[in-house]
Amino acid sequence: MENLHVRYPGATEDVLRGVRLSLAPREFVAVIGASGSGKSTLLRAINRLVEPSAGSIRLGDIEVTTLRGRTLRQCRRRMGMIFQEFNLIERYRVLDNVLLGRVGSQSALRALFAMYPAAMIGEAASLLDRVGLGEFLDQRVDALSGGQRQRVGICRALFQSPELLLVDEPTSSLDPRIANDIMELIRDLALESGVAAICNIHDVALARRFASRVIALREGVVVYDGPFDALDETALGGIYAVTDRSQL
Ligand SMILES: Nc1ncnc2c1ncn2[C@@H]1O[C@H](COP(=O)(O)OP(=O)(O)O)[C@@H](O)[C@H]1O
Ligand SMILES: [Mg+2]
Repeated sequence: MENLHVRYPGATEDVLRGVRLSLAPREFVAVIGASGSGKSTLLRAINRLVEPSAGSIRLGDIEVTTLRGRTLRQCRRRMGMIFQEFNLIERYRVLDNVLLGRVGSQSALRALFAMYPAAMIGEAASLLDRVGLGEFLDQRVDALSGGQRQRVGICRALFQSPELLLVDEPTSSLDPRIANDIMELIRDLALESGVAAICNIHDVALARRFASRVIALREGVVVYDGPFDALDETALGGIYAVTDRSQL
């Protein structure tokens, strides 16, 4: 990503102001920053859920910012997203939510009629088993706890076999006691499947535990990019002081 700017329609200022970052294959980075610093906008610009207003994003050899139609959909399939609010289809079974990760929501009818190859179903079932949901394949999502829902969300994203995982504050809708388990699961599965990940984490302590490299955003600008250990208290104060220090 080079010199990325985002300005929302009707706004008078850019929310992202010249962001530059690059990620190696298999790398896991945390993005920290106060509420409103632009973390979600950054992730959503990468898969064009939000339109960049200037700058460049490349995935391998492909320039993402100019893609349209079918090529944009193909590119999006190479990126899996894990959301703060899970974004599952609540009235569908756990298994179908994961299967939809691969075939895309335009094939929702196939899910209703369970028209999937047996091998694909087996693969989804073993992934769900890996995250501890082996007993829940046929349950509707709306019968699950928050932590279980997020495990489904993680499986759905990985089942897409993405090259890049975009993870937006995956634990902030959850009980803090299970935040650690969920982060651990995301990190371990990213490693196991060899996928690179950018993970927004509001909680600095959690970021420190799971990412060796951290990127700090402040008012839409990258103010730090490097190993967590070199991020000192003064810098942290600078990153979080702008809006609300109590959120640290
Ligand atoms: N859809 C939107 N339309 C207009 N402004 C938005 C929209 N989404 C976010 N913003 C604004 O962009 C800024 C950054 O928000 P966001 O990317 O959500 O930050 P973070 O995820 O770090 O909390 C905030 O000032 C927010 O109000
Ligand atoms: Mg956000």
